[in-house]
Amino acid sequence: MISNTYPQTFLELPLSRDAGAAPLQRQLHARLQAAILGGKLPAGTCLPGSRALATTLGIARNTVTAVYEQLAVEGYVLAQRQGTQVAPQWHGDTAAPAPPCVLAQRMQQFAPLRTALSYRPAALRPGEPALSQFPLAAWRRALDLAYRDGSAAAALAYGEPAGEPALRAAISRYLAVARGVSCRAEQIIITEGAQEALTLCVRLLTNPGDTAWVEDPGYRGAKAAMQAGDLSMLPMRVDGHGLSATPEDWREYPPRLVYITPAHQYPLGAVLPVPRRLQLIEAARAHGAWLIEDDYDSEFRHAGEPVAAMQGLAGDGPVLYVGTFSKTMFPALRLGFLVLPPALLAAAQAPLVAMLRGGHRHEQLAMAHFIDSGQYARHLGRMRRLYRARQQALREALARQFDVPHTVEGGHCGMHLTVRLPPAFPDHVIAAAAQAYGMAVSPLSGFSLAPREEDNGLVIGYGNTAPELYGSLLGRLAMLARQASKV
Ligand SMILES: Cc1ncc(COP(=O)(O)O)c(C=O)c1O
Repeated sequence: MISNTYPQTFLELPLSRDAGAAPLQRQLHARLQAAILGGKLPAGTCLPGSRALATTLGIARNTVTAVYEQLAVEGYVLAQRQGTQVAPQWHGDTAAPAPPCVLAQRMQQFAPLRTALSYRPAALRPGEPALSQFPLAAWRRALDLAYRDGSAAAALAYGEPAGEPALRAAISRYLAVARGVSCRAEQIIITEGAQEALTLCVRLLTNPGDTAWVEDPGYRGAKAAMQAGDLSMLPMRVDGHGLSATPEDWREYPPRLVYITPAHQYPLGAVLPVPRRLQLIEAARAHGAWLIEDDYDSEFRHAGEPVAAMQGLAGDGPVLYVGTFSKTMFPALRLGFLVLPPALLAAAQAPLVAMLRGGHRHEQLAMAHFIDSGQYARHLGRMRRLYRARQQALREALARQFDVPHTVEGGHCGMHLTVRLPPAFPDHVIAAAAQAYGMAVSPLSGFSLAPREEDNGLVIGYGNTAPELYGSLLGRLAMLARQASKV
């Protein structure tokens, strides 16, 4: 039944016939489209018959039918037996309000974390390498080589879905020597940073609702990948030696995926001892689980003997090794990699080919050259020394300028220190206030799915902030912490 009638007046207004005016058909289309979008013609409104409207407006009937047909193609109206009606999805002022969320339900989990999409430069941001120290000239030469090579034009095509063979081979050689990872180049999938590698793990290995263990406190990027895959995350507490799981945990909450940062727990900094690594591998084998080893910044080791990657301990075991060039090169490069266990390789081939496109080929070729020519190793050595000195300077500035009660954790690797604070100094209040002073320290409680009283503190990055600034920045942070404690 036709419930609404069109408001005659505005539809009957004459169309412009001035020289230079838009064609009559376009004017009528625009009038009706605006009326529908603006709610003047609500859903269900029946438009006048083409003959009647043509007569009223003094135009050809064909013009009106052409406009109605166009609106139908665009989905604004439906051509019904009773006449042409405004389609149901076009609700104007009088229609019911739009539903509050148009995204998939699982995306609502991100709402509490949502901040602006912008990314402003700031001091003390964890995870940011020393950008001004990056050997830009050498990198430009490596890129130039890739673009000047005889096959540079051919490399404008899609590449192999798993990435450039030259880079995969260079990474496998590098990993064997530097990280004790044992793999063939074919096991390596080049990704857009560690983040895509984590997303691939979730896509390849889980079904919605599967259980994933995450370190708590732990890396938010890993949790985001799991949330987007509709996994049920179980926060696993981290002690001074990293993730701790008992046989009861395995029996009662058997996971499909376990995410770990064994070389340098993020953000607390523990190294997972070898016995715990072996236990995890054994338990994962027994329960059909997969371990994701995120080895994001182990290249920058500042204290103690290097501990080889877990992947090398597992043989053909259930470890997926994730690496990134975001810290060792620069984050905007967006190059990372996933090392698949041989057992997964054959099964993963078809879905990977379907999901991936080989791109950024010249950057990948330049990266392969950078590694093979030894420039990567030299850059890493220089950065290791730089970060070691920066960490020392930060520790001294903390001792001198940060005169609120605190303990410092981590630091044998990487580019950040974690400072625990008593609960009287709420970390999110301090971190929010620090933003106004150009500091991007992260509140420790924000890394936890189920924060406890002790998960209160600040994660402070020293990678990309010059040491001369530490004293004044930490003095300011201490002042903000004291103010926060009075709130
Ligand atoms: C624990 C952890 N893993 C991985 C990454 C790197 O992510 P991506 O390679 O996507 O830049 C970071 C960066 O902050 C990190 O902290």
